[in-house]
Amino acid sequence: MKTSKTTLNKENRCEQNISIYVHIPFCEQKCNYCAFNSFCASEKVKDEYLDLLCKEIQVRKIDRKVQTIYIGGGTPSTLSCAQIEKVGKCIFENFEVMGNSEFTIEANPNSITEELLKTWQGLGVNRLSVGVQSLDDESLKKIGRLHTKMQAVEKLELASKFFDNISADLIVGLEGETSEKLCNFANQLLSCGVKHISCYLLEIYQNTKLFELIKKGKYHPLDDDKTIDNFNALADFLQEKGMWRYEISNFVFPDFESQHNLNYWKRGEYLGFGLSAHSFLDGIRSKNAETLAEYKKGKRKYEKLTKKETLEEIIMLGLRCYAGVELDKVKRLGYDITKNAFFEEYKKDGILIQKDDKIFLNPKFYHLSNTIISNLFA
Ligand SMILES: C[S@@+](CC[C@H](N)C(=O)[O-])C[C@H]1O[C@@H](n2cnc3c(N)ncnc32)[C@H](O)[C@@H]1O
Ligand code: SF4
Repeated sequence: MKTSKTTLNKENRCEQNISIYVHIPFCEQKCNYCAFNSFCASEKVKDEYLDLLCKEIQVRKIDRKVQTIYIGGGTPSTLSCAQIEKVGKCIFENFEVMGNSEFTIEANPNSITEELLKTWQGLGVNRLSVGVQSLDDESLKKIGRLHTKMQAVEKLELASKFFDNISADLIVGLEGETSEKLCNFANQLLSCGVKHISCYLLEIYQNTKLFELIKKGKYHPLDDDKTIDNFNALADFLQEKGMWRYEISNFVFPDFESQHNLNYWKRGEYLGFGLSAHSFLDGIRSKNAETLAEYKKGKRKYEKLTKKETLEEIIMLGLRCYAGVELDKVKRLGYDITKNAFFEEYKKDGILIQKDDKIFLNPKFYHLSNTIISNLFA
């Protein structure tokens, strides 16, 4: 039987509900562009990590209802059925998970199997996030992905027999990409039943293989202007297909919005478990250790946000998603953004749109969001 999509009853949500993120840092192979905390590991290391992870969940449990769970990575689909069952059971044994909660797991096309899909379904997973990145075999190979276009399509089709709510990630700005190719990839994803597409601009990080390849002239990412043109063409295409852009990088059919992401963007509270996972609870942010050795010692860094940092966060998150920014809320925190030198100018140029007490960033200017947001603090 297929798991139906989850729509959280918004009336049922109260301030007290939290989200849970669990980090699985393991991958079958490190992709050339990736700077996330992820690596290859033996089954022994994985099992040791899962023991520590479950211990952390037990020790840090709190008496708060859980509205969303997200198991991300790395690649959670590299865990065996028994390993992921252990993680899932541990969460449910230690937390009261709401009946209508959203439960997402991240997966790579090459490691999705029918057996795993059934196991995830049995655990209560009701949303998949699949890293497709591209549907061009040459491009996939050049960025170090293990799957082909055909495998991605086949696995999405298989997954859609079990799950209604599937998201796919695409990277924009890869070598050889054109707007036609990109829209064609998106069209194929929609044909596979994908309901949500996350589109990320290629970021080039110094400590990656891609950085070295570019330096040696062996990889040629698109230039910035072409990348933005392609992204805009993709955004138009997805919106013509009936998706809405509920955040700068995220497109979705109505009712399939990621409740977990919405909680982050609205600055809701969450607990993060595992290597380098972040938490936000009672106004305090904390981050787990980044290395296994430190994680074993249970090290975690705490940070109480200053008023200014809180403001920056509210404005940045609000302007990058459909929710916008409440002017009064910002004013109560001590910053009258309407007095900022750029505010009226941005409104006049149609960059900022004001509706009653809220301001929104015009999606046409999303690609300039970093500059606009930093100017609003100047
Ligand atoms: C944390 S990764 C994990 C997903 C999963 N392991 C996979 O690769 O399919 C989540 C997403 O971040 C995106 N991502 C990772 N590194 C990136 C980079 N350097 N530039 C743009 N997007 C990136 C990819 O789209 C990826 O699917
Ligand atoms: S992109 Fe995904 S699969 Fe590739 S190294 Fe990063 S986390 Fe692992």
